[in-house]
Amino acid sequence: MTIIDGKKISSDIKHELKTSVAACKQQVNAVPGLTVIIVGEDPASQVYVRNKAKSCKEIGMNSEVIELPKEITQEQLLSRIEALNIDPEVHGILVQQPLPPHIDEYAVTMAISPSKDVDGFHPENVGQMVLGNLNKCFLSCTPYGILELLSRYNIETRGKHCVVVGRSNIVGKPMANLMLQKLEATNCTVTICHSATKNMSELTRQADILIVAIGRANFITKDMVKPGAVVIDVGMNRIEDASRKSGYRLVGDVDYNPVSENASAITPVPGGVGPMTIAMLLKNTLQSFMRANS
Ligand code: GUN
Repeated sequence: MTIIDGKKISSDIKHELKTSVAACKQQVNAVPGLTVIIVGEDPASQVYVRNKAKSCKEIGMNSEVIELPKEITQEQLLSRIEALNIDPEVHGILVQQPLPPHIDEYAVTMAISPSKDVDGFHPENVGQMVLGNLNKCFLSCTPYGILELLSRYNIETRGKHCVVVGRSNIVGKPMANLMLQKLEATNCTVTICHSATKNMSELTRQADILIVAIGRANFITKDMVKPGAVVIDVGMNRIEDASRKSGYRLVGDVDYNPVSENASAITPVPGGVGPMTIAMLLKNTLQSFMRANS
């Protein structure tokens, strides 16, 4: 059984990106820049945003975090985004979600220039991805990171049955779409399951590759997994644990210990898919810079 080490792969990718950023600096005397906007003081979002900025610095990219009060109006937020859209030093713009309820996430997504939408959330990027024009779009970072894991672990995907559990716009839908593209690390037969799926275990048991992003702790049990399956766990659920100083621990959507007895390869939580998301965000930001300078 192989434990898919996302921490190691993300570190490898960051090293590769650091070399590319240094080459940018030498060739055009400029480096890619990522601006992250955070609205309000959600503690989990603050941690994510700090990690994104720290990773940028590690590889020599510029990064700016814009912290805005939760009372900001939608109009004010949109005008900040418009200024970033025309700033030539900004190559990637990310507005951390969730946003306060008075701000329409769709309006924010639409306001970000598709050419700087390194989250890959804008319909133009989603549409190009669905059409298979992967050199004309930004891929949503978590599904993109999962493709990298499959590819760097040489996992055979062609003709395999991939079952995606979850249908979010950020993970499930783009993931399923990517797995059916005609690429080296994809080319699967794809089934999507979600909260209203009947007899889900009948479907998950058919999976050669099972990708789970449903947001429920330990949802996938051993009896739902075919012996020899590759299991990718996107879940990050906090569950109470009095033995920890923090009072909680992180678990995935997959019941890791029993399922790993059935799997041929599996991603742990933490240390599997999570670290890949930031690595791919940086990769998208470099891509944006390259397109702007070509
Ligand atoms: N909140 C949690 N994950 C993400 C992400 O990938 N992008 C943005 N913009 N917000 C998030």
